[in-house]
Amino acid sequence: ANTLILTALLAYLLGSVPFGVVITKGMGLGDLRRIGSGNIGATNVLRTGSKGAALATLILDGAKGAVAVLLARWLVGAPDAMQLAGLAAFIGHLFPVWLKFKGGKGVATFLGTLIALSWPVGLAACATWLAAALVIRISSAAALVAAATVPAWLLVFDSGRMLFLVLLLTLLIYIRHWANLVRIRAGTEPKIGAKKG
Ligand code: G3P
Repeated sequence: ANTLILTALLAYLLGSVPFGVVITKGMGLGDLRRIGSGNIGATNVLRTGSKGAALATLILDGAKGAVAVLLARWLVGAPDAMQLAGLAAFIGHLFPVWLKFKGGKGVATFLGTLIALSWPVGLAACATWLAAALVIRISSAAALVAAATVPAWLLVFDSGRMLFLVLLLTLLIYIRHWANLVRIRAGTEPKIGAKKG
């Protein structure tokens, strides 16, 4: 039980590293929380104008979710522990202790976690995001479409074993995108790469 608690704590700490903030600050691109939507994710990093910084944020925010899951596999081994670590990393991204618990919306970390838990489901979710993004050209809308399809991908490519976790993470993603949903409805949500958010 101690190892499980330690693993969850490590996963939370890993998830709470706000790579978007670290990278933009490190590259001298300004204070991410004063740019665009103020969110700490890759979509908002792109609004600084740096594609490289945005890509690095996307990969690292995704990787921390995947690494948390792999850490649990290594330290504990049980599938339930891997799911718990994924959840802890996701919660870390949304509520990071370093940013007074004001974190991101969880899309990249969700995708990274899914890839490590069940790669066909993770890849299907990424492909759905990409396809939706190509059609709609709005990052938040693509994420909401992709998140909604994950329970279905789970049943197609995996099983129901992770359904509770996936439904919980999807629900949290929707809650965190409330302001985006309002903007999408109003027709004011910016397209991918537009400078203003
Ligand atoms: O789903 C992408 C989400 O993070 C949107 O970010 O900055 O447009 O609110 P943002």
